[in-house]
Formats: sequence, structure tokens, C-alpha cells
Amino acid sequence: MTQDEMKQAVARAARDYVADRLPLGAILGVGTGSTANFFIDEIAGIKERIGGTVASSEATARRLAGHGLRVLDLNDIDAMGIYVDGADEIDGGMAMVKGGGGALTREKIVAAVAGTFVCICDASKRVQTLGRYPLPVEVIPMACAHVSRELVKLGGAPKRREGMVTDNGNLILDVHGLSITDPAGLETEINQIVGVVTNGLFARRGADVLLLATADGVQTCMR
Ligand code: 5RP
Repeated sequence: MTQDEMKQAVARAARDYVADRLPLGAILGVGTGSTANFFIDEIAGIKERIGGTVASSEATARRLAGHGLRVLDLNDIDAMGIYVDGADEIDGGMAMVKGGGGALTREKIVAAVAGTFVCICDASKRVQTLGRYPLPVEVIPMACAHVSRELVKLGGAPKRREGMVTDNGNLILDVHGLSITDPAGLETEINQIVGVVTNGLFARRGADVLLLATADGVQTCMR
């Protein structure tokens, strides 16, 4: 099975999860990235069940709208049952590194509102210890050098992502060389650095459900 076939399989499983569990007409949060894109294409087939969607990026909003799915402003809704998104890494405690697509801040905001976070990924994303994938940190542009110096003090090697401006008008630093043994602690510590908008550790609010595509099929793991 290719990686794309696994993404397709997990996207179908997530569509079925939503069709079974999202109350008719309820609001669905939708993530960003290639796996999320497969998921968006799948839920086009059940759009009459979905009252509206909240997108975690402009790209996702465009894709949802392109399929005729209603895209709502997060400020106009009171509750969201389910949020479905991919991840760059996920550990055994359901903590994740996200932000490979640069949408980490909006993803974290939408996830904070959702009742259930469903992470969809292929088996290559499952790790023992987070940090092999460089940790994205969204930074206010004028603070980039300051934040970089602070991240070096934490043992990381930050590198500015070339050509990347987030949907919020900010920059991304990708932090290499971290071995993240305390994801929730590091998430808080990095967020304390002045000039950081947020970082790609999703540990304080990790996934509730993991749909993991493997060569033997899609496995479901619960927090
Ligand atoms: C985007 C993300 C994505 O969920 C993450 O990068 C995984 O992407 P893909 O499904 O393309 O592997 O956090 O900001």
C-alpha cells in the first residue's frame, strides 16, 4: 500500500466515523494537509448530514467550499462536536506535533472548541518520542531573531521556513534536534516566549481518537 492509499483509507474511515457519530446537522471542524484533503473529498459524499464546517486554514476553506460544504466563522458557532485533522507525529499518549502545513495556530484554536479531536494519519506518523519531525513555531515577524535565540537555549536548532507566511501574517520557525520527553511541559514553555503565537505541540489538548492507517487496515485507538 502506498502512503497515499493509506491516507485515502484513513480518510474513508474518518468519513464513516463522522457519519456514525456527528449528530445530524451539527458542525464539523476540518483540519489542513494532504490527509485532511482526502477527508474533505470523502465528506463531500455525506454533506447533507453536516450542518456546517469550520476550517483550520484558508486552503481548507476553499476546498470545502469547492465541494459545496458550508464554511462557518468559528465566532458564529457555540459548539463543535468533532474536529478531524492529520498530524506530523503522534506518540502513545496521543500528543502530537502538527504544523507541517503551517496552519498550527488555527488548528489549535479549532481543536480547543471541539468536543472530540479525531487524528487521522498513516503508520509512518506514529512515534515513540516526539521531535524527529522539526517542531513548527509560529512567530510574530519582528520577534523572529529573539524567539530563535530562546529556542536555542531550550536545546533546539530553529530554522526559518523559507517563503512561508501563515494565514495570520506570521512566520514559521522549524525547530530541529529536539527529543520531546515532556510534550505538555515544552508546549507551555515555548508558548511563554514573547513573540511566539503558538507552537505545534498538541499535548495539553491531544487527540481523543486516533484513526491509524496501516498495511493491515485502519486501527482505532482511544485516549
Ligand atoms: C498542517 C498540519 C497537518 O495536519 C500535518 O502537517 C500533516 O499533514 P499531511 O496530512 O499532509 O501529512 O498540521 O498544519
